[in-house]
Amino acid sequence: MRLAEVDPEVAKALREEAERQHRNLELIASENFVSEAVLEAVGSVLTNKYAEGYPGRRYYGGCEVVDVVEELAIARARQLFGAEHVNVQPHSGAQANMAVYFTLLKPGDVVLGPNLAHGGHLTAGSPVNYSGKLYSIVAYGVRRDTERIDLDQVRDLARRHRPRLVIAGGSAFPRLIDFAPFAEIAREVGAALMADIAHPAGLVAAGLHPSPVGLADFVTTTTHKTLRGPRGGMVLCRAEHAPALDRTVMPGVQGGPLMHVIAGKAVALREALTPEWRAYQEQIVRNARALADALLARGYRLVTGGTDTHLLLVDLGDRDLTGRDAQEALDRAWITVNKNTVPFETRSPMVTSGIRLGTPALTTRGMREPEMQQVAALIDRVLAARGDASTEAAVRGEVQELTARFPLYRERAA
Ligand SMILES: Cc1ncc(COP(=O)(O)O)c(C=O)c1O
Repeated sequence: MRLAEVDPEVAKALREEAERQHRNLELIASENFVSEAVLEAVGSVLTNKYAEGYPGRRYYGGCEVVDVVEELAIARARQLFGAEHVNVQPHSGAQANMAVYFTLLKPGDVVLGPNLAHGGHLTAGSPVNYSGKLYSIVAYGVRRDTERIDLDQVRDLARRHRPRLVIAGGSAFPRLIDFAPFAEIAREVGAALMADIAHPAGLVAAGLHPSPVGLADFVTTTTHKTLRGPRGGMVLCRAEHAPALDRTVMPGVQGGPLMHVIAGKAVALREALTPEWRAYQEQIVRNARALADALLARGYRLVTGGTDTHLLLVDLGDRDLTGRDAQEALDRAWITVNKNTVPFETRSPMVTSGIRLGTPALTTRGMREPEMQQVAALIDRVLAARGDASTEAAVRGEVQELTARFPLYRERAA
């Protein structure tokens, strides 16, 4: 029986969500729209299969077909990133990071990671996350003048605290991260280096962002951001670390892998090996620059003054507008963003002084630089109107016209 007959309430919610995704301008930097092929793989019968273990050595029978799928995902990820070993089983980015921590560390060990308020991710040591609860975290940040990572501080803290693990990478760095100095600092103090490329993974794969492969002991990523795969995680490492990493992922921190999601990862990774996909990544970056330039021209302050990647961070502090109020106003105008702390933030994470914008999702729809100009103008109108309902209604109409020109799925998903 079809979903609409079995469960009309969930079917209705899915229809409404498909409608929302089609209608709104999606600017959340960590989101994207997967292809119909990826959707098909994730919605497949592979969700029925238990496959604890790894290809060729499972704890369950009947794994001969899912073995093929997992081998394909691994081979494609290795090729795409030039990695010696890849584990494609982590259910999410948080689980990928946990796998690396549990491979390398004992509770109480010292970890040097990026401050959440300066662009890091929860899993790099926030006190409310397992990482902050289990390990002794030392946080580095960005410089006040440049708002770029303070490598002198990273080096000083590493020498002073002798971490076992150094983390590079985060959720809100609009600039390229050079992993070489991190590797040098880690080596000097005898620490391992983990590069979390959850955000720029697609750019890394396309050669548009420095790659940590070969420099970091472990590279973790999500598969659903710039990489444009299903929600999930992966860990890349050198062959020497492979047995320990694989044992940590399963049975260390996970049970059965999500084989339908691994199939989706395999499909997305195949797409990522095509020239069109590389051109897509280049357009993401061009679109982010165009959006940044258009906002700067309208007098907005951007953290670091711009972007080299797929994301930008708008600091609204000088406009006396909170990130939360901006997010809510834009939501009412069908423009989807997230509030975000800015470096040296004075407001709480639930309020914030900034919003984070990203171009992967709109680029997937086929939008280019002229549309980014239009998007910046729409954002500016909403934020300048400070809650004025008629402006928000007018912008909703223009958003709908714009998104209608860039259809999302041939057959509306769900
Ligand atoms: C840098 C970074 N690491 C890890 C994660 C966690 O990924 P997930 O939400 O899949 O657990 C994220 C998610 O936003 C992230 O940005």
